[in-house]
Amino acid sequence: MSRKIIIDTDPGQDDAVAILLALASPEELDVLGIVAVAGNIGLKQNAINARKVVELSGRTDVPVYAGCSRPMRRTLVTAEHVHGDTGMNGPVLPDPTIPLQEQHGVDFIIATIMNNPPKTITLATLGPLTNIGMALVKEPAIAERIQEIVLMGGAYFEVGNITPAAEFNIYVDPEAADLVMKCGAKITIQPLDVTHMIQATPARLNAIKALGNKSGAAVHAMLTFSEQFDLKKYGWEGAPLHDPTVIAYLLKPELFEGRVCNVSIETASELTVGMTVADYWHVTDKPRNALYLRSGNAEGFYALLTERLSRLP
Ligand code: RIB
Ligand code: CA
Repeated sequence: MSRKIIIDTDPGQDDAVAILLALASPEELDVLGIVAVAGNIGLKQNAINARKVVELSGRTDVPVYAGCSRPMRRTLVTAEHVHGDTGMNGPVLPDPTIPLQEQHGVDFIIATIMNNPPKTITLATLGPLTNIGMALVKEPAIAERIQEIVLMGGAYFEVGNITPAAEFNIYVDPEAADLVMKCGAKITIQPLDVTHMIQATPARLNAIKALGNKSGAAVHAMLTFSEQFDLKKYGWEGAPLHDPTVIAYLLKPELFEGRVCNVSIETASELTVGMTVADYWHVTDKPRNALYLRSGNAEGFYALLTERLSRLP
């Protein structure tokens, strides 16, 4: 029985790889829809990028929606410095032919959760949490019906990437992240503490290119573009690969380890806004609201990713 999921995303090259991994795994994951959110780049371009990736995968049965065009309270911060002026520089992909759905992405999220049995819809979020935050405000009843929210975001032991304290997805919309953390749904977090272990080394990228299919070539072109910023910044052998860890967790959770603890979001301090404060050592009696993953098996992850990409066109 495949798991019903909605992917909320701001593609982004790493988002694109996550979407491909999910669409290559129909036995395990039933992707009901993909919802674009403003983040790496503006919403309109994110929605174009998402449709390009769906068409690359051949899974044109999967509908794409546009969600919110800006954070709940703050002005949008984007990341062209990492992802390029299109938000997904690297491969040349044809303009999408599949339509963008009319329905607003937030309404799609709400309707899907409310019209399916409780605890049967998982949200896999790969960007700022604006759409989820807005869905919780518009229809609070979804909180107890959501099966699980598996999100890429946050950092604790690895500290921030967009500021010394905050990871980009949380930083862009800390108010939305705060709403999500407090909503009561089951939450699993893939933070930088994990993704910084999942490094796309040249050997791993070459193995993907060697698949010889369109998807492998596109992923190689995407990641060899987006890695430039991180290789310069960190000086590692490979750039961290963030968003596909969310899908890998859904496919093979045993690749990752962490613990259930309280995770709170800083929304007030100018210095640390967007920080995910993980009470990893349980020094407080705050509610243990999330599974905070802290490590991942990189070899196992890339074996999974490469094999699944081989199944695509
Ligand atoms: O900090 C990493 C996150 O920010 C990833 O989701 C990447 O796509 C960017 O959105
Ligand atoms: Ca992303």
